[in-house]
Amino acid sequence: MSLHEISPTELRLKPFTAFDRDWALVAAGDEDGFNMMTVSWGGVGTFWQRPVATVYIRSSRYTKTFVDSHDLFSVSFLTPGHRKALNLCGTVSGRDVDKVAKSGLTSVFLSGGQDVPEVPSFAEAALVLICRKALVIPLAPETFIDPDAKDAMYGGADMDNYHTMYIGYVEKAYSSATK
Ligand SMILES: Cc1cc2nc3c(=O)[nH]c(=O)nc-3n(C[C@H](O)[C@H](O)[C@H](O)COP(=O)(O)O)c2cc1C
Repeated sequence: MSLHEISPTELRLKPFTAFDRDWALVAAGDEDGFNMMTVSWGGVGTFWQRPVATVYIRSSRYTKTFVDSHDLFSVSFLTPGHRKALNLCGTVSGRDVDKVAKSGLTSVFLSGGQDVPEVPSFAEAALVLICRKALVIPLAPETFIDPDAKDAMYGGADMDNYHTMYIGYVEKAYSSATK
C-alpha cells in the first residue's frame, strides 16, 4: 500500500482511540538525520482557522531537538500489526539506538509543500499528517488548573520533565487506504 495525498477534510480518524489506544509516531528532521518517537497524547481540530494537529513532547526527548530545529513534523498512524515497533520507539531513545533499523520500519520522505525539505514518515503508515509548527508552548506548572496534574504527571522519574505543546497546521495529509 502506498501513501497518496488526501484532503484533511477526508480524514476518518477517531481521535480518542487513534492517539490514546492505537498510538502514533511523531517524526522530524530531514534526509541528513531525523528521529521519531511514539505518542499517545495529541489531537486534531481547528485553530487559527486552519486544520491542525497537536502533540505534547517532554523536554527530555531526543525527538524534541528535531521538532524544535525544523519547521515541519509528521504525525504517522501506522496500519495494524506494528505494536512492537511502536513500543520500541516509545521506550528507547534515538540518542542510543538506530530506531529505524531496530524497529524494522521503513522511512519515507513526504512533501510538506513547495520549497520546503521533505518530512520523514514511514511506509507502514495508514495516515500521515504533515504539520507546520504554528504555536509552541512549554507547559508551565503555574498555569495548571487541575490540582493533581503536577504530581501525577511530573513527579518521580519525570520530575520537572514538562511537556511542550506543539500545534501544527496540517499542510498535507497522506493515506494508504484505497479510494
Ligand atoms: C504508548 C506510549 C505513548 C507515549 N506518548 C508520549 C507523548 O505523548 N509525549 C512524550 O513526550 N512521550 C511519550 N512517550 C514516551 C516517548 O515515546 C519515549 O520516551 C521515547 O523513547 C522518546 O524517544 P527519543 O528520545 O528518541 O525522542 C510515549 C511512550 C509510549 C510507549
